[in-house]
Amino acid sequence: MKQLYHIAFSIAVSAVLLLFYACSHKRDLKQTKSGEIERKIDSLLSIMTLEEKIGQMTLFTSDFNVTGPTIRENYKADIKAGKVGAVFNAFGAAYTRELQKMAVENTRLGIPLLLGYDVIHGFRTIFPIPLGEAASWDLASIENSARIAAVEATADGLHWTFAPMVDIARDPRWGRIAEGAGEDTYLGSVIAKAKVKGFQNGDLYKTNTLVACAKHFVAYGAALAGRDYNIVDMSERTLREIYLPPFKAAVEEGVGTIMTSFNEINGVPATGNRMILTDILKIEWGFDGFVVTDYTSINEMVPHGVVMDEKEAGKLAVNAGVDMDMQGAVFYNYLAESVEQGGDGTMSRIDDAVRRILRIKYLLGLFEDAYRYCDEQKEKELVLLHPDHIAFARVMARRSIVLLKNKGDLLPLDQNITTLAVVGPLADNKKEMIGPWSAAGDYTRCVSLLEGIKKQAHPNTRILFAKGCNIDDTHTYLIREAVAVARKADVVILAVGEAAWMSGEAASRSMIGLPGVQQELVKRIYETGKPVIVVLMNGRPLAIPWIAEHIPAILETWFLGTTGGDAISDVIFGKYNPSGKLPVTFPRNEGQIPIFYNAKNTGRPISDNKYTSKYLDVPNTPLYPFGYGLSYTTFEYSNIILNKNEISYKDTLKAMVEVTNTGPEKGEEVVQMYIRDLAGSVTRPLKELKGFQKIKLEPGVTTRVTFTITSGDLKYYDINMEYKVEPGDFVLFIGTNSIETREAYFTLIE
Ligand code: BGC
Repeated sequence: MKQLYHIAFSIAVSAVLLLFYACSHKRDLKQTKSGEIERKIDSLLSIMTLEEKIGQMTLFTSDFNVTGPTIRENYKADIKAGKVGAVFNAFGAAYTRELQKMAVENTRLGIPLLLGYDVIHGFRTIFPIPLGEAASWDLASIENSARIAAVEATADGLHWTFAPMVDIARDPRWGRIAEGAGEDTYLGSVIAKAKVKGFQNGDLYKTNTLVACAKHFVAYGAALAGRDYNIVDMSERTLREIYLPPFKAAVEEGVGTIMTSFNEINGVPATGNRMILTDILKIEWGFDGFVVTDYTSINEMVPHGVVMDEKEAGKLAVNAGVDMDMQGAVFYNYLAESVEQGGDGTMSRIDDAVRRILRIKYLLGLFEDAYRYCDEQKEKELVLLHPDHIAFARVMARRSIVLLKNKGDLLPLDQNITTLAVVGPLADNKKEMIGPWSAAGDYTRCVSLLEGIKKQAHPNTRILFAKGCNIDDTHTYLIREAVAVARKADVVILAVGEAAWMSGEAASRSMIGLPGVQQELVKRIYETGKPVIVVLMNGRPLAIPWIAEHIPAILETWFLGTTGGDAISDVIFGKYNPSGKLPVTFPRNEGQIPIFYNAKNTGRPISDNKYTSKYLDVPNTPLYPFGYGLSYTTFEYSNIILNKNEISYKDTLKAMVEVTNTGPEKGEEVVQMYIRDLAGSVTRPLKELKGFQKIKLEPGVTTRVTFTITSGDLKYYDINMEYKVEPGDFVLFIGTNSIETREAYFTLIE
């Protein structure tokens, strides 16, 4: 007995030790700064020359692919000379090994390179664009898609991704809305955390985790008039309440790096903005990682007009808090000179920057083995579209689809249709389906919608195809053939939308309807009188009022990536009941932009009275609101029950609602909870998302959903810009989208 006890005791001790060992080897910024690493950095810094330090602060692109003006072609010579500490747009185990070797074997100190890439929505297996993934409101899946991307990218020699983009975007003209989580700060913040978790997995030392980079800091999504790179002019309140929180969330999750944005904020370019980069990010939030610029954004401070030349720009950037210069070669060319000329505490800033960069390299384990990510064997196993990754991509893709309309339950389709027409420029198109920023994804491996439909339709169903037009045609010659095909069919599936290049960087559109003659195609197909299902593929909300009014069934599918055609077919044939909800408002027309759900009431809220806040020619309501999305089943909400009607600062409030699946199918629903502060020391939005739960219900089943609210959830920046709660009356809403909600009232007392 005693012996048994002894054995059990030793097992327990070993387990604890093992756990301790495992934990103590976890390395990321969330752990307290490791004294050992800091000491190693101290000794390295003490022997580094100024040139070597500046080298660490320099990031150049390789010749793989570039996303802006290329101003350095001899990056290999620079690596060997110790003049570059990080390289991007280079991947592959063999190639990254070759580059790494140049740094480790040729330079005096042998400091390894950091290798980065834009792994935005998958690496080889491509997932839906981030805006699409956000429509899933499924944090576990979003985390998993980032995890898989990290597994694939690290197997190809990469350490660092320039993702997630956590810019809030309220203007769908801005093409980069595709890369983020949409318009809402709360949803954007929880998704930011999920992605950082997925990429970094709480341990940068593991060879299958990538250092994440929250970008673009900050307010890039608020570019005036939705035109990319345009200026941003906004109050500190809006900046702090709407645009900063997703970055703060990423920092809380231990994000290793932050990228500055191209835009100016209130007259000061982000890349030279000390308030943003140092006061808020590094001091207020305690960020210990490093700040990298966006592509040549230091150089761009010259045309911005805050400095006369690049040398001044470099000084401004480094002193504002920039640690690494992406591609601009400004630090490379001028920083040493600036230091030699003295002043400004630039040298201590350089030491701090290098410390931050070396910290990340130590956390990655690169000093122990510079080649630990260059594993040809692992690359072979993982990069060639691993079946598990593909299977999950399909799960993620179908969860990202939003059913916008389903009049007369046209969907799901009966598999035994005699003739099905699959029409439209995006119907048999793999190239666009992969979406913008598709990393090492190979579009030829995508499943087109036509292929997906063919796989799932009944073998006896005749499937006809016609393109109808190209995405941006100016002529209508091809429409006639599509109409003829539609006439022969029982049902028409019509895939329309944007090309991948129409969203993403430098892809703003002033008009956001269907490009080219696609609207004409839709009209002509509709006029055949056949039941039509419109499948939208796009990187932004589209203004499609005519389609919304006339077409009976509409699916928003964004750009779904590698498994797009399979996922859409799963929904069309009812293998999967759609559960996505819009993470962004769809306007009726461009004139309504910016339009977003958490607007303010104004002193003259809309009414029948002429002198109220409205347009003469379009309602104030959107085409589809934030949080909107249908299912093949229906959900009914009961009244909200609150456990208290009055809470103090220390209390928690519980809000309960019963949700019943009243339809014929099992399905999922995103139950959304919003709050309005009725009177504050400054005006408050009409509604703000404060929580959501994605639930699954069998037909006829009711479940109780409970939300817990603390006074912390009610905080905001008051009239003195203090982040705090104010006592008063609040409305709590729970519902199926941001407009259709039930409400309850409570009071917060001091
Ligand atoms: C984009 C960044 C991107 C970088 C590197 C820039 O043009 O704005 O989002 O990470 O290029 O490719």
